[in-house]
Amino acid sequence: MVGPSGCGKSSLLRAIAGLWNAGEGTIVRPELDQMLFLPQRPYMVLGSLRQQILYPNTKAEVDDQELKQVLQQVNLADLDERFGGFDVEQDWAKVLSPGEQQRLTFARLLLNKPTYAILDEVTSALISIMKKVSIAICKQLAQLF
Ligand SMILES: Nc1ncnc2c1ncn2[C@@H]1O[C@H](COP(=O)(O)OP(=O)(O)OP(=O)(O)O)[C@@H](O)[C@H]1O
Ligand SMILES: [Mg+2]
Repeated sequence: MVGPSGCGKSSLLRAIAGLWNAGEGTIVRPELDQMLFLPQRPYMVLGSLRQQILYPNTKAEVDDQELKQVLQQVNLADLDERFGGFDVEQDWAKVLSPGEQQRLTFARLLLNKPTYAILDEVTSALISIMKKVSIAICKQLAQLF
């Protein structure tokens, strides 16, 4: 979906996600539990790095090895070591750069493996090399289905 800045692209996605219910009309979409939304401004949850990576399924049991592997895929290989492990709690929106936050949301995509992923300009804060990595990850996900 393309259009000039401010034309309502993100607003439409918010309506699809059920976050906005003003206005009229009918939206036909898959069940929300089959969809993962990655908003334009990454949403950081309060809690541990593990919960941050697993969001929205923060209670999923995934071993550290797999978490590390996913972090590697999104170019954040040393993140757990930098903060002292997966169970350390931080104000992640403050301690991570916007680009790091966006890459972290890609980790969520890889772990949650939703049937549908809605990405709202998630590559905007990334340098072009990361765009390539992001696109490769999407292609890899597409092959899973
Ligand atoms: N919470 C809000 N309350 C009122 N108006 C809003 C709100 N969020 C966005 N808008 C307005 O709605 C319009 C559409 O915004 P939206 O964020 O959907 O644009 P966009 O197409 O995604 O733009 P961009 O390409 O810059 O991301 C804009 O004029 C914006 O100012
Ligand atoms: Mg937008």
